[in-house]
Amino acid sequence: MNREDYGVINKYRGFLPVNENTPIVTLNEGNTPLIFASNLSSYLGNDLKVCLKYEGLNPTASFKDRGMTMAVSKAKEEGSQVIMCASTGNTSASAAAYAAKGKLKCVVLIPQGAIALGKLAQALIYGALVLAIKGNFDEALSLVLEITNNYPVTLVNSLNPFRIEGQKTGAFEICDVLGEAPEYHAIPVGNAGNITAYWMGYKEYKKCGKIDALPKMIGFQAAGAAPIVEGRIIEDPKTIATAIKIGNPASWKRAEAARDESGGVIEKVTDEEILEAYKLLANLEGIFVEPASAASIAGVIKKNKESYFPKGATIVGILTGHGLKDPDRAIKESKEVTTVLAKKEEILRIMGL
Ligand code: F0G
Repeated sequence: MNREDYGVINKYRGFLPVNENTPIVTLNEGNTPLIFASNLSSYLGNDLKVCLKYEGLNPTASFKDRGMTMAVSKAKEEGSQVIMCASTGNTSASAAAYAAKGKLKCVVLIPQGAIALGKLAQALIYGALVLAIKGNFDEALSLVLEITNNYPVTLVNSLNPFRIEGQKTGAFEICDVLGEAPEYHAIPVGNAGNITAYWMGYKEYKKCGKIDALPKMIGFQAAGAAPIVEGRIIEDPKTIATAIKIGNPASWKRAEAARDESGGVIEKVTDEEILEAYKLLANLEGIFVEPASAASIAGVIKKNKESYFPKGATIVGILTGHGLKDPDRAIKESKEVTTVLAKKEEILRIMGL
């Protein structure tokens, strides 16, 4: 299997800091579909054209795999034997999988009781050492930085520059499909690595002449965890979107730069708005995402109500993680299952036939 498009490193080698000695650790990530959201676009009106980049279809079901293939490949190239991260769940799942593939040890620090079930299951089954701290994500990240700065352990959070390099390939794929950049790029913001990576990707594509114009970056934080919007560290962030429950993002300044250089915005959406978008994506488009991912669409709905978008604008929304990561939430937000007798008459009666 050495096809040119096998995994994001092979596909975009010329844009990435790898060489012939880099051992590529890949699960064939990337190449996720860009889906035209026809029903959502009609629902929004104003001739908007919304496309959804379904990153939940990566090997560990989130966008993290794009960055992790780079971080783990470079860790191996440098002779590292152990990788480590703090995580609200998806980074830990991805790190654990790529460590398994690359035959490295993996240690993950998670906030106790605050990550979705599917993500925990992943980190465990891939064989990582999973440590749950009695603290939040921001505290977990500080501990991981202290350890990785002082011991022979490689940091694979998005402060590792190779993570951002890998994640920028999402922007390349969008432009390759559309033949240009979208006018607006909507994205959830947590630790702020992904908005940083996409902006870097778009700028690089423009610089080498692959696209003529850059998108406006529009990022959305959860209202109870919106440090960038409020301009202050949030000590005790709160949101049902556990993936973005972060009070002191590592790439804070770079997210602000993406917003300001592109002429975009970073705003907040409430948990109610996130859940409304979460259900709408499933009901209108047949796309199941985790709540944090729905923040990008909650933001588009909100900005559309404010008449922010010009008529006919193209918007790409990044759906960062799969809905099956957090089955508890899906069940909580749905109507109850109806239990019936194993009798045809009973079923027909309920079907109204
Ligand atoms: N969406 C999902 C599903 C995520 O898991 C994350 C971050 C984000 C959005 C926000 O991306 O941090 O680059 O701004 N998850 C990290 C983790 C923090 O540990 O899995 P960001």
